[in-house]
Amino acid sequence: MMKLLRPCTRNNDEAYVNFNWDKLGFGLTPTDYIYIMKISGKDNFSEGSLSRYGNIEISPSAAIFNYGQGLFEGLKAYRRPDGGIQLFRPELNALRMKNGADRLCMPSPPVDVFVDAVKKTVLANQRWVPPPGKGSLYIRPLLMGSGPVLGIGPAPECTFLIFTSPIGNWYKCGPSMSLYVENEVPRATPGGTGAIKSITNYSPVFEAVNKAKAKGFTDVLFLDAATGKNVEEVSSCNVFIVKDNVILTPPTNGTILPGVTRKSIIEIALHLKYKVEERDVPLMDVLTADEVFCTGTAVGVTAVASVTHYDKRVEYRTGEKLVSQKLRVMLTEIQTGVVEDKMGWTMQIH
Ligand SMILES: Cc1ncc(COP(=O)(O)O)c(C=O)c1O
Repeated sequence: MMKLLRPCTRNNDEAYVNFNWDKLGFGLTPTDYIYIMKISGKDNFSEGSLSRYGNIEISPSAAIFNYGQGLFEGLKAYRRPDGGIQLFRPELNALRMKNGADRLCMPSPPVDVFVDAVKKTVLANQRWVPPPGKGSLYIRPLLMGSGPVLGIGPAPECTFLIFTSPIGNWYKCGPSMSLYVENEVPRATPGGTGAIKSITNYSPVFEAVNKAKAKGFTDVLFLDAATGKNVEEVSSCNVFIVKDNVILTPPTNGTILPGVTRKSIIEIALHLKYKVEERDVPLMDVLTADEVFCTGTAVGVTAVASVTHYDKRVEYRTGEKLVSQKLRVMLTEIQTGVVEDKMGWTMQIH
C-alpha cells in the first residue's frame, strides 16, 4: 500500500485534472487516493493512511460479506468562488456513522478522527473538486466488518475506508422529481435499521425503484410499515410538504434516515420564520399539499412536480417563488461559499 506522506501541494496549473467538467454526471469517476484505517476495538485504531485508488483485499469470511455488517455515509466537498475548498457539517455524518456503528456492534472512528480523515482524503484528491458551479466532490466513507467470522456475530476487526468521486449538480438533471407511491414494500420497519445508513437498507428497494423508473418516475415515495397511511421518505432523500405556508416533514422516530440536509433545511426555514412541524404526514396531506420537495446530499433541495398513487396523479407547482426554491438557494449558497456562512456550518479546508 502506498503511503502519501503529505497532502498534495500543486501549483495553479495543476489545480484541476484535465477533465470535461461540463459533461460531469452522477456515475463513478475514480480519483487518486483512498483512505484506510483498521479498527479492532473501542480505542484500538491503526494509523489511517492514504493509498492509491484501487481494489482492496478482504477475507471471504468478512462479516460484511456474510452478515451485511456495514455502513456508508455520503457528504460533499465544494469549491468556493475563490478557489478554496469546503465541507458542509461533516461532524453530523461522523455522528450518524457512530449511531449506526453502535446499532451494528462495530467500533467507529471518533468524530474528530472521522473529520480529519475526510479532510485528508479530499486534500489528496483536491484536483478532482470541480470548479465553482460545475458540481462537487462526493465523499463516501464506509465502515465495514472486515475481520473473518464464521458463527453469526460481529467481526473482530473493522475497516474505515473513504473514497471520492466528482459528481455533477442534480439541478442540472432537471429542476423537479416525479414520485410513485410504493404500496407494497416498506423501506423500513419499527425497531429495524431505517434510521441508520446500513448497507442492508438499500438493495431491498432496488426492485421497487427500478419498476418506478421503468414507468418514467424519478423515484419511489415509501409509506410507513405499521399503518401504510403516512409517508416516510424517498429511496435516498427525505420528503417535505408545504401546506398553507406551514412546512411539514415526518419525524425521525426510527424508520427514516435523519438527513443532514433535512436538519439544515428545518434550521434555515425556522431562521426565515417559517412554521415547521415534524409530525406524521398522511399520504392524503401530500396529495392536497401546495408544494412537495425532497432533501439530500445528492439532490440538494429538489421540488417534486408530481406524486402518483395507483392511477391518481397529483401535480404541484415548480419553479420560481416556491418555498422550496427559497430554501434551496440559501442552502446552496452557504454550501458553495457564495455567501457568508452565518450558521457556522462550513469547514474551509483549503
Ligand atoms: C434513505 C435516505 N434518506 C435520506 C437521505 C438524505 O440524507 P442527507 O441529507 O444526510 O444526505 C439519504 C442520503 O443519505 C438516504 O439514503
